[in-house]
Amino acid sequence: MTYDFDQIIDRRYSDSTKWHKYGPDVLPLWIADMDFVSPEPVIHALRARIEHGVFGYGMELPELNETLVDLLYKRYDWQVSPESLVMLPGVIAGFNLAGRAVTVPGDGILMQTPVYPPILRAPTNMGLSRDEAALMRLADGRYAIDFDAFKAAITARTRMFLLCNPHNPVGRVFQHHELTRLAEICLRHNLVICADEIHCDLVFQGHPHLPIASLAPEVADRTITLMAPSKTYNLAGLKCAFAIIPNATLREKFLAARVDLVHGTANLLGYVAALAAYRDGQPWLDELRRYLAGNGDCVRQYVDTHLPPITMGTPEGTYLAWLDCRQVQIPLNDPYTFFLERAKVALNNGMDFGQDGQGFVRLNFGCPRVLLIQALDRMRQALATL
Ligand SMILES: Cc1ncc(COP(=O)(O)O)c(C=O)c1O
Repeated sequence: MTYDFDQIIDRRYSDSTKWHKYGPDVLPLWIADMDFVSPEPVIHALRARIEHGVFGYGMELPELNETLVDLLYKRYDWQVSPESLVMLPGVIAGFNLAGRAVTVPGDGILMQTPVYPPILRAPTNMGLSRDEAALMRLADGRYAIDFDAFKAAITARTRMFLLCNPHNPVGRVFQHHELTRLAEICLRHNLVICADEIHCDLVFQGHPHLPIASLAPEVADRTITLMAPSKTYNLAGLKCAFAIIPNATLREKFLAARVDLVHGTANLLGYVAALAAYRDGQPWLDELRRYLAGNGDCVRQYVDTHLPPITMGTPEGTYLAWLDCRQVQIPLNDPYTFFLERAKVALNNGMDFGQDGQGFVRLNFGCPRVLLIQALDRMRQALATL
């Protein structure tokens, strides 16, 4: 290993949300950032930019756009023009802007639940209805798309499908045939697709990411794709993301929605970090993916061996495990509070991901393995007291 992902970095007394929210006796495996340092080229580039000492309004970096265009072509055989890229301070801002750009109050946004809470909340922010299509949990803990439920959730007022792929929290990386079917249905119903693909780089062997917009020009024509270096290179605090909107009319609407809500461009240090990460971060990312896959296997084996009847599907991407605790006799069917109080491990409450998250918790395994095992040991000991 060239990079030391086993290194423990003390973030407890830093400005980290993850490490600050709970007391010093709690191990935080909740909010989605990783306890790893970013790649050295990123730190080097930031240091050089900081030395300049002037931090007025920045501008988009043409070199970043060119690097992204190259990358999208190399990775996905997807050809986009540099003009189709729109810089953003974050992906959450991106899907909220997409909603504002294509809907009017009373319309609906379609989504697959359980899902990342800000996606779940997005329709309410805009006076829209939430058109929910529940994913189907199979016996082995894997989730599949229930296409009948998906079609049934579409109403005459549904305007946009807010896709999350790779999916947070269930860890699926949707396959070509699944995405094709979703796209066909959206086309048939004239829906705009907003694809939150923030976890696209964090996929494991045998589960390649496929941007839905890269399926066909007619899909790209109605899709707003959102990506970012923030999950991949652990840069969430630098606030930099981007949208890919090949359709000029749709892009204009999105830009009009962005004008005052996201005044100016994104964070200039975010651009600097993003450029260095995408240009020079690949060797780091290759090893990170191997490490995360190892962590995912570790959680899976631990859960199977030591935590039954808790079950989970094998993560195909992301660094999130979605634990089904419904068969455990946990007070009030509330595993979040149970593990927080009795194990001193902070996870995400499944209820925050929608009604079908009741009895589930989300565990973030983007941390050194010893820490992960420490948390799992604590959870095992807490369960033993039941
Ligand atoms: C699916 C998904 N979208 C968006 C975000 C957050 O994006 P940002 O911090 O760029 O707004 C996250 C963070 O966990 C996420 O998992």
